[in-house]
Amino acid sequence: MASTDNRPLSPHLQIYRWPLSMLTSILNRVTGVGLTVGTLVLIYWLIAAAAGPESFATAQALLGSWVGRLLLFGWTWALFFHLCNGIRHMAWDAGWGFEIPTIDATGWIVVLASIVLTVTAWVLGYAAMGVL
Ligand code: HEM
Repeated sequence: MASTDNRPLSPHLQIYRWPLSMLTSILNRVTGVGLTVGTLVLIYWLIAAAAGPESFATAQALLGSWVGRLLLFGWTWALFFHLCNGIRHMAWDAGWGFEIPTIDATGWIVVLASIVLTVTAWVLGYAAMGVL
C-alpha cells in the first residue's frame, strides 16, 4: 500500500455535490434579486392600468403571452421560495433549527412547499378565470 492511499481527498469538481443548504442559500439571493425585478414589472403593470385602456391592453398582451406567463410563473415560484425560506430564516434568528439534519429537513420542506404553493396558485388562478 502506498503511503499516499489514506490521505483525505480534496473535493473533486466532477464528483462534488452541492449541499442543499448551499443551494437554498444561493437561491434565496437569486430569488431576492428576481423579486426586485418582478416588483418593477408589477409597477409597470399598475402604471399601464392607470394610463388608460390602450396601454393596459399592451401590458396585458405582453404579460399574457407565453413568455410573459413563463416569467410570471417563475416570479410566483421565486416569491413562494423566498417567503418560505424567509420563515426558515426567522426560525434561525430565534435560535431554532441549526442541527444539520434539521437544516436538511427544513431545506427540503422549503423546496417542496414552494413548488406545491406555486402550482396551487396557478391552478386556482386558471380555475378562477374559468379555463380549468
Ligand atoms: C417582493 C418581495 C421581496 C423582495 C424584492 C426581496 C428581496 C430580497 C433581497 C434582494 C435580499 C438579499 C439577498 C442577499 O443579498 O442575499 C433578501 C433577503 C432576505 N429576504 Fe427578502 N425579499 C422579498 C420578500 C421577502 C419576504 C416575504 C420575506 C420573509 C418571509 C423575506 C425574507 C428575507 C430574509 C430573511 C433575507 C435575508 C437572508 C439572509 O440573511 O441571507 N423577503 N430579500
